[in-house]
Amino acid sequence: MAGLIFSTVALPLALLPLSMAQISCSRGCSCQPEIKYVNCSSQNLSDTLPKFPFGTEYLDLSHNHIPHVLPFCFGNLLCLKTLLLRDNVVSYLSDGAFFNLRSLQKLDLSRNLISFLEHGFSLGLNSLTELSLAYNNITVLESNIFDHFDSLVKLDLRANRIRQIKSRAFSSMTTLRHLYLNGNDITTLELATFSTLRSLEMLQLSHNQIAELQPGVFAALCHLVLMCASNAHVLLEGNPWHCDCDLQRVFRKLDELHRLFLDDYHKLKCRDPEELEGSLIVAVADELCIAETVTVLILTGTVLVTVLAAILIGEKNKRQSLDKDYNLTCLNLKFY
Ligand SMILES: *[C@@H]1O[C@H](CO)[C@@H](O)[C@H](O)[C@H]1NC(C)=O
Ligand SMILES: *[C@@H]1O[C@H](CO)[C@@H](O)[C@H](O)[C@H]1NC(C)=O
Ligand SMILES: *[C@@H]1O[C@H](CO)[C@@H](O)[C@H](O)[C@H]1NC(C)=O
Repeated sequence: MAGLIFSTVALPLALLPLSMAQISCSRGCSCQPEIKYVNCSSQNLSDTLPKFPFGTEYLDLSHNHIPHVLPFCFGNLLCLKTLLLRDNVVSYLSDGAFFNLRSLQKLDLSRNLISFLEHGFSLGLNSLTELSLAYNNITVLESNIFDHFDSLVKLDLRANRIRQIKSRAFSSMTTLRHLYLNGNDITTLELATFSTLRSLEMLQLSHNQIAELQPGVFAALCHLVLMCASNAHVLLEGNPWHCDCDLQRVFRKLDELHRLFLDDYHKLKCRDPEELEGSLIVAVADELCIAETVTVLILTGTVLVTVLAAILIGEKNKRQSLDKDYNLTCLNLKFY
């Protein structure tokens, strides 16, 4: 409803070639018309926003108490390029919340209370190159949730509570170069998660709950790296690694890729098994598969001994039945 009222106000404005100076600056805000800059930071704004001058390119609404973003919240700012909404109390972004801000390139929604992303929240944001949703409360990244970001280069999702990334969450983001997912609760990375991000240069995954990597993730990264001309850097520090031969094999394969760099590999530490807790992976890497080889040898040895024992017992029984007086102790000594 609020959207309708705003749109009837905003539409005639959009049709007139108004310069910014023709609309007075909203009370409390400071405006610099010559650079199309409006600063309404720390003005105790909440759900009723003032009208902003048409033609504004840079709007700072940080440090207020804005609780949600609905379509036309900001009027019809067709020229807006940067919108700062960090440090508010936004918990809800509606479908099409920003759809009339078609020139928007940078959107900062960090340090709010967003826990859920509506499927249509990205509608109209085809020009956006930078989005920060850092320090919110997002738990799941649904499939196709970022579908309208045709130009996005940097996506910051650090310090949320992301546990799950559905397999097609990042599909279509072919221009993305920097992806920050550090400081979340991610435990597993599915095979297809990053496979469509063919411009990716930096993948920040440190401080999550990742204990193991599937060989498939490496395959997807390999594919990604081969598709693009530049190098890709992956950061994995601060995860609770389960150190075993499988992990060692995955890391060895990743190391063989020419364009892929695990920048903090030398800092990665084992969480378990218990005897390796706190050890640097790089220091114990050579032992991980040795331990497995030893286990295999021990198992093989055990099987051989069992088979041998069975043969011996069979032989013994045969001999016993043939010659009951035969000295068993001597027989055993002879065979071992
Ligand atoms: C914007 O306004 C706030 C509050 O008045 C002020 O602290 C801040 O320095 C201003 N920002 C700029 C870039 O002028
Ligand atoms: C901020 O706004 C709230 C209502 O939204 C009001 O109760 C409060 O007094 C305001 N604080 C200041 C400093 O203006
Ligand atoms: C964040 O979400 C969790 C549940 O996922 C909830 O318990 C918590 O209160 C939320 N925190 C904020 C600040 O909204």
